Amino acid sequence: MAVQTSHTPLMLTITEEHEMLLNAVRDFAQKEIVPIAEKFDESGDFPMDTIKKMAGMGLMGIEVPEEYGGAGMDVLAYVLALTEIAKADASHSTIMSVNNSLYCNGIMLFGTEEQKQKWVKPVASGEKIGAYSLTEPMSGSDAATMASRAVLNAAGTHYIINGRKSWVTSGPVADYIVLFTMTDPSKGSKGISAFLIDANQKGLIRGKKEPKLGIRASATSEIIFEDYECPVENLLGKEGDGFKIAMSVLDAGRIGIAAQALGIAEAAYEKAVAYARERQAFGQAIGQFQMIQQKIADMKTRIEAARHLIYNACLAKMRYKATGARYTLEASMAKLFASETAMFVTDEALQIHGGMGYSKEMPLERYYRDARITRIYEGTSEIQRMVIARNELGMR
Ligand code: CAA
Repeated sequence: MAVQTSHTPLMLTITEEHEMLLNAVRDFAQKEIVPIAEKFDESGDFPMDTIKKMAGMGLMGIEVPEEYGGAGMDVLAYVLALTEIAKADASHSTIMSVNNSLYCNGIMLFGTEEQKQKWVKPVASGEKIGAYSLTEPMSGSDAATMASRAVLNAAGTHYIINGRKSWVTSGPVADYIVLFTMTDPSKGSKGISAFLIDANQKGLIRGKKEPKLGIRASATSEIIFEDYECPVENLLGKEGDGFKIAMSVLDAGRIGIAAQALGIAEAAYEKAVAYARERQAFGQAIGQFQMIQQKIADMKTRIEAARHLIYNACLAKMRYKATGARYTLEASMAKLFASETAMFVTDEALQIHGGMGYSKEMPLERYYRDARITRIYEGTSEIQRMVIARNELGMR
């Protein structure tokens, strides 16, 4: 397959290696994750066993080079694998995406050799779980306005961190966290710095676990810092680089969430097609009715459009690797369209199923609940529209 646009003068090719990965992940996800998804959705427990098995397949650090514990593959491999995992269960894909794009990716881009060895290797290999912490109770979309603080001690050996972070994906179980906090409030977004945090150290308290509508098996919590002592060598990048690190890491993260949304939409769509073929009403299969056909046509078209925007974002990320040109626009467009597609498709698929779609006896209601978060986290649909429009208008 080849996709090419005027903005991305590179070819995207699905190689034999991609096909092999895709088949292996699809097989694993359908056999090992689909049968347990409902149980974990209900209990809200973290699915550590299947996450460890995914790690064994190299899925927790797909783009990380092998010498740092990863699979050494590309962004297309990441997207193909993540879509298949999301198709089986969105919670598993959330945990996988944060580990890959928000945690490992940031350190691979901005870390020193020592930091990559110490902080990436165990997480990319799946021995440990990684998290990313930007949001605070009073700062979500307006990410630069944060109240938490890191202050260098008099000896210049440690930053003392205080404050409360919220909505940390994998927060209750994470071993390591990439944390963004303010080192110089007088400088606004240029006063934010990034730190590598050992979550099992004194001074870090795991706060309340969020009772969520969807992706219930991906644990989310507050993280509270009380005089947490972070050694200076755990500063990621330079002091004041934090906001740019957070934003550029989110560019990669948003491609992952787009792939997750695509996977959820595909799962719901396949169920809807099967049901439209089988379910009889008024003496014929409901798929014979034009109103159902219209839904199927719109669902399919949006899914394929989302897939192509995701491929376009993959191309842009590959171009970034070669030229350093940002792929913020392409990532935001993919995330915006795919997440809204996931919402549209899961809603229509549920509608096609009627009462059965509303019942917990089928996974449609779970897909519908899980899809909802993709319009919120890693930048709401409103933020994506703002990013896209600012880019086009050349305005801040
Ligand atoms: N890459 C690199 N640098 C970037 C960037 C990017 N994608 N986006 C912005 N920057 C830089 C700008 O160039 C600017 O630097 P200069 O002044 O040197 O030019 C600096 O950052 C500030 O940029 P803005 O003035 O545009 O910043 P802003 O305060 O207006 O905010 C925003 C922009 C797009 C609204 C941003 O705040 C944003 O994306 N908000 C949403 C945050 C978000 O997605 N949160 C989700 C957190 S993760 C999560 O959901 C939980 C989880 O665990 C999954």
